[in-house]
Amino acid sequence: MQPTLPESLLSALSALLAARIGLHFPKERWGDLERGIAAAATAFDLPDAASCAQRLLSAPLTHREIEILASHLTVGETYFFREPDSLDAFEQHILPALLQARAHNMRRLRIWCAGCCTGEEPYSIAMLLDRLIPEHEAWHVTLLATDINPVFLRKAAEGEYGDWSFRATPDWIRARYFKRKRDGRYALHPRIRNKVTFSYLNLAEDVYPALSNNTHAMDVIFCRNVLMYFTAERARAVVENFNRALVDGGWLVVSPAEASGILFSRFANAAFAGAALYRKSADADAPRLVSLVPAPAPEPWRPLPQALPEAAAVPATASLAAAPRGPGTPAQAARDCASQGRLDEAAARCREAIAADKLNPAGHYLLAAIQQEQGYNDDAMQSLKRALYLDPDFVLAHFALGNLYRSQGRHREARRHFEHAQALLRNHPTDEVLPESEGLTAGRLGEIIASVQSSLPQNAAGR
Ligand SMILES: C[S@@+](CC[C@H](N)C(=O)[O-])C[C@H]1O[C@@H](n2cnc3c(N)ncnc32)[C@H](O)[C@@H]1O
Repeated sequence: MQPTLPESLLSALSALLAARIGLHFPKERWGDLERGIAAAATAFDLPDAASCAQRLLSAPLTHREIEILASHLTVGETYFFREPDSLDAFEQHILPALLQARAHNMRRLRIWCAGCCTGEEPYSIAMLLDRLIPEHEAWHVTLLATDINPVFLRKAAEGEYGDWSFRATPDWIRARYFKRKRDGRYALHPRIRNKVTFSYLNLAEDVYPALSNNTHAMDVIFCRNVLMYFTAERARAVVENFNRALVDGGWLVVSPAEASGILFSRFANAAFAGAALYRKSADADAPRLVSLVPAPAPEPWRPLPQALPEAAAVPATASLAAAPRGPGTPAQAARDCASQGRLDEAAARCREAIAADKLNPAGHYLLAAIQQEQGYNDDAMQSLKRALYLDPDFVLAHFALGNLYRSQGRHREARRHFEHAQALLRNHPTDEVLPESEGLTAGRLGEIIASVQSSLPQNAAGR
């Protein structure tokens, strides 16, 4: 399609989309851009592409607007067992080596599928894990799958697929892992479905790696057929973040079409025919620090009965960037351990930090994140209460505690902490980056909290 909107408008729109979603719309794709904006106009209740473009450029985009734009402008092409050479390399080389290396100490495996679309990719990986991990109960496996498009995420969490999703899938996979429904669609076996945690995450804007959204200490990151749609600048930033999100020796799997010596120059290139696999070397000079700030959706996200609550895109954990810093400090050691997945050691270092500086609320806040990551939510709540005792205006601690209450169904307490956090945020200009948050602005946190608040049940009379 030939674009009809003025060039100045299309140029400004493509700059906006590059900045907020990462998408690259060069001039030769302005027809696609205009078509997407025209489709989004309906969702924005606007008559046409021109008025929609004007509106998008007139004020900073909200989180909800970004979701709507992403759902009209991103490419949702995917299917089970796509690019089989990459999955073969994972199945035959990467996974067996990881299982062997971890078999005798921590039986922990962490995999992230970034840009997971409607779920076919992470579920394919879950099926491989199902076949290859011998004693499932003995292993703690995290399979995180994130995307920017809430419609895709909702479909993914439902786990139901039509024939087209199986266009390159051996028949036995369908027979073994799916049940045919009356309407001819296929429902994924709950055992496989439950292995994947779906979350919202905007690779262009959200903060990662972070304990708070569980994107740290990854063994393998799959990000296939995503970076090819990004601007070169955004792709570089994303790859840099992936490098930090991986443990030493961890793997980044991209599409063969995305292979690039320049883009992945911080990684070692592993030669597997037909696949593009990059490995983070143990002696890489990559910064190891995990960003400890709130970011989207650490909670498991299951099929939703109604429209996606934006709560699915928010942190349910502590924001921990405020912990005391400095090379060689116990707090820094705690963060380094956490970023490599050594949580017991991280907690021990953090307790040392607290012992050395008992009145610093940030240490308790850092401990809360580690405890939450360890699954000790009650301890995390106690740590957050200590942080708030020392600093009642610690906005991120109020938010984290509210989220923990929410996860326990204690909505009245949750609401109280969210309201308190919102009141504190009113003292900050919206574009002010919150102290120690590594980029989170007061306005963005306010938006996130508002969306969580709106997801709480109206009647908080019970709990
Ligand atoms: C072509 S699909 C790839 C799906 C799957 N990885 C595969 O290879 O089959 C691209 C996915 O990237 C997602 N995406 C695009 N921009 C994104 C962003 N800024 N953050 C997160 N996901 C994004 C899209 O929503 C879409 O689901």
